[in-house]
Amino acid sequence: MHDLKSQINPEKVPQHIAIIMDGNGRWAKQKGMPRVLGHHSGVKSVREVTEAAAQIGVKYLTLYAFSTENWNRPPAEVTALMSLLVETIKGEISDLNKNGVRLTAIGDIEALPAATLKTLKEGIEKTKDNQRITLVLALNYSAKWEILHATRLLAERVKSGELNPADITEAMFEQVLSTHGIPDPELLIRTSGEARLSNFLLWQVAYAELYFTPVFWPDFGQKELFEAILSYQNRERRFGRISEQLT
Ligand code: IPE
Ligand code: IPE
Ligand code: MG
Repeated sequence: MHDLKSQINPEKVPQHIAIIMDGNGRWAKQKGMPRVLGHHSGVKSVREVTEAAAQIGVKYLTLYAFSTENWNRPPAEVTALMSLLVETIKGEISDLNKNGVRLTAIGDIEALPAATLKTLKEGIEKTKDNQRITLVLALNYSAKWEILHATRLLAERVKSGELNPADITEAMFEQVLSTHGIPDPELLIRTSGEARLSNFLLWQVAYAELYFTPVFWPDFGQKELFEAILSYQNRERRFGRISEQLT
């Protein structure tokens, strides 16, 4: 474990890692437990991965915690997930502060249940001065929603005559995404063996390195994170060029 960490090149640590935390339900099922226990067990992974990321100098960690599509799950599971969020955020605030973790969120958070939204906002407020790492929770998140929302904001500015459509730049578009101010993730990890994006950060991962692992989220910890980072560091990021052009 320590060995793995020493193999990581500190000069090439991604600034931003995004993770699709998947497989909680199957992890529980495999053990003959209810799905909800899988979600509970996933909290330990969130803690461990956040601390490991901070330790090696990752500045932003975005975790996909609830998609807009997840509302379609059985109501009891949705309710359990929302209470787990409240419990977890409340219980973690003092540790987040101790560990220098700033909490923030992306997604249509205003549409979350009132209790969840209230706790989330408290967590964000109480950790806002921390600087070691920013933990971004994607909650009620949908990349298509985000892109549409951004488009509407720019369209309003065009309509009011303040903006010319021909002058819209990538940078301007990024300003109206919910991730404004956050650099694009260099590395996207998905656990549980699924190889799809499930409506996550479509704009922002345009050039991310994708890493898929069969490990279920509750079994993903420091070791698995470091393995993903090592895989990332061994790739050649060409951005359209050829190998010989890279120094
Ligand atoms: C990820 O685990 C957590 C959320 C989507 C909230 P899942 O609940 O999707 O677990 P599987 O994919 O059914 O195993
Ligand atoms: C994606 O996982 C959403 C989160 C991890 C929060 P899902 O388990 O909901 O995705 P699908 O349904 O397999 O695409
Ligand atoms: Mg899943």
